[in-house]
Amino acid sequence: MARFENKVVFLTGGATGIGRATALAFAREGARIAVCDVAEESAQETVHLVNATGAKGIFIKTDVASAQEVEAAVRRTVAEFGGLHIGINNAGIEGSRDKATHEYDETTFRRVIDVNLTGVFLCMKAELQAMLGSKTQGAIVNTASFLGHFGMPFHIAYVAAKHAVMGMTRAAATEYSRAGIRINAMCPGFVDTPMTVMETEKDKAVAERYYSAIPAKRVAQPEEIAKAILFLASDDASYLYGHGLIADGGLAAM
Ligand SMILES: NC(=O)c1ccc[n+]([C@@H]2O[C@H](COP(=O)([O-])OP(=O)(O)OC[C@H]3O[C@@H](n4cnc5c(N)ncnc54)[C@H](O)[C@@H]3O)[C@@H](O)[C@H]2O)c1
Repeated sequence: MARFENKVVFLTGGATGIGRATALAFAREGARIAVCDVAEESAQETVHLVNATGAKGIFIKTDVASAQEVEAAVRRTVAEFGGLHIGINNAGIEGSRDKATHEYDETTFRRVIDVNLTGVFLCMKAELQAMLGSKTQGAIVNTASFLGHFGMPFHIAYVAAKHAVMGMTRAAATEYSRAGIRINAMCPGFVDTPMTVMETEKDKAVAERYYSAIPAKRVAQPEEIAKAILFLASDDASYLYGHGLIADGGLAAM
């Protein structure tokens, strides 16, 4: 089954984790993919893996917090592949893990908002301009989080940004439905990626407490999240607009 034959995908945060798994899943279904990331070496490795499937990938070094870089990356994607059908706005950072709100560092807070929130806005804006310019009926999937629906201690900036990504997804979905562009969000629970590597014993203990509460009794593999992202981007989700799809092993059902 090749749901994305001849489709062009602009994907951020493709160097590792969910982004890499998603790039590979699109590649296996026939898409051409621009892998955008700040991490050059591992993003090039993703492109190598994409090309090994027989699909075509390119790397574009992009900091999603920079409007100029995002606009240039979307322009290059369109120039290289002749259009843009799908935007996967997935790049993200965690910020700090152990600071309560009254001691959370302002610079860290601002950077998390810049990357996780403004970055998604800038990507959507540039993708929408490209899609509208060519009257493409496309799809956009923003990676939010289950923390776009729920709170969690010591993650004030991350939780704020992900809630706002849900808000932007809903607002934008209502604006572009008439243009035939569907916008949704993916909301993973805990996923086995570099972001969830626990370095300190304290972090490990906290993570263990959260993980043991997951009804599925395990964290997700990035490939499982990629499948759900592809669903949202595909015609199988033709009646989904402004939806936040939670894949969290049952945490939210508790
Ligand atoms: N891992 C989880 O448990 C989990 C849960 C819910 C949501 N998410 C979200 O999923 C997305 C992917 O995260 P992941 O778990 O694969 O983590 P990850 O750290 O493996 O991937 C994040 C990617 O974003 C890139 N990135 C960071 N800052 C960037 C910037 N300014 N510009 C461009 N690229 C940048 C990184 O280089 C990396 O490739 C993130 O938005 C994250 O918040 C992750």
